Amino acid sequence: MAESIKIFAPATVANVSCGFDIFGLAVEQPGDEVVLRKRTDDKIIIQSISGDEGKLTKDPEKNTVTVPILRFLESLDLRQGFDVELHKKMPLGSGLGSSSASAVAGVFAANKLLGSPLESRDLLPFSMEGERVACGAAHADNVAPALVGGFVIIRSYAPLDFIRIQTPQNLYVSIVHPDIEVNTKDARIILRQEAILNKIVAQTGNVAGMVAGLMTDDYALIGRSMTDHLVEPNRAILIPYFNEVKSSALEAGALGASISGAGPSIFAFSEGLETAQKVGLSMKKTFEKGGIETNLFVSGINQDGPLILG
Ligand code: HSE
Repeated sequence: MAESIKIFAPATVANVSCGFDIFGLAVEQPGDEVVLRKRTDDKIIIQSISGDEGKLTKDPEKNTVTVPILRFLESLDLRQGFDVELHKKMPLGSGLGSSSASAVAGVFAANKLLGSPLESRDLLPFSMEGERVACGAAHADNVAPALVGGFVIIRSYAPLDFIRIQTPQNLYVSIVHPDIEVNTKDARIILRQEAILNKIVAQTGNVAGMVAGLMTDDYALIGRSMTDHLVEPNRAILIPYFNEVKSSALEAGALGASISGAGPSIFAFSEGLETAQKVGLSMKKTFEKGGIETNLFVSGINQDGPLILG
C-alpha cells in the first residue's frame, strides 16, 4: 500500500441561487491540493501550508483539512498518523468553497491511503466537520459536490440524504471573485430566520424548476428558476456592485446569476462555453469599473470530484 498521496479537490458553488444549503456544484478549477504521508506513530501534524498568506492555523483540531481526518480515524478506530501538506489554490472567504476543498482533499486522501475502507460518499459527515470548524455550521452544499462531483441536492440533513443529479452537457459556470473577503459565519448571522409563506411558495417553485430544468436540459427553465427570494436580498449588500454585476451577466447572455455560496464571488450559468466566457468578462469589467480587482473562472460542471495527482 502507498505511503503517501497527493489529492486535488475542486472549488464549488453552493446555494446555486435558490437552493440555500441544499444545492451545490463542483467546478473544474480552481481547487486545493493536499499531500498526506503516513507516519510511524498516530500523530496528525500539519507540516506546511502554502497559499494562505499565513492566515490558517496549523492546529490539527482547528484546521479544516485535519478535523475531518481526525473524526474519520476516530470513527473507524484506526490509529494511523499522517504528515499533512496543504496547498491553498484559491482565496479564503471567497464563496468558492475554499474550506470544503481542503476538508474533502484531506479525508479523501486518508481514506485512499488506508485502502478505501469507506466509499467516497460516506466521507461526507467527516467533511462536514471541517465546515463546522470553518464557519460554525456543518452545511453540506460545498463538501458534497467537492466529494462526489457534479450537481448535488441535500434532500435532508437529519438524517443526511443527498442525491447527485445529471446536468446538461453544455451548461457552463462563470465565477468572478472580487478581491474582498466575506466571512461565511458573518454572512449567515445576518440572514432572517423566518420567511413568509408567499416567499416560500416562490422559492420552492424555483427549486423544483431548477431540478427539472437540469434534468431535462431545459436551459430556459434553469434561467427562469434562478431567483433567490430568501437569502440573496439579505446578502447582496455585502458585495459592492452586486446588482450591476448581475445585470451585466444577464445582458451578456447568461441564463441567470447569483451569489456563489456566501459570497463575495458571483456566479452565472450560461449555455455554451463562448457565452460563459463573454458573461465572465462582462462581470469582471463591471467590478473593475468600480475599482475592484477580480479573478475569473469559467468551467463546465466537474463530474469527477477529487483527483489523485500522485
Ligand atoms: N450554504 C452556505 C451558505 C454556503 O450560504 O452559508 C457557504 O459557502
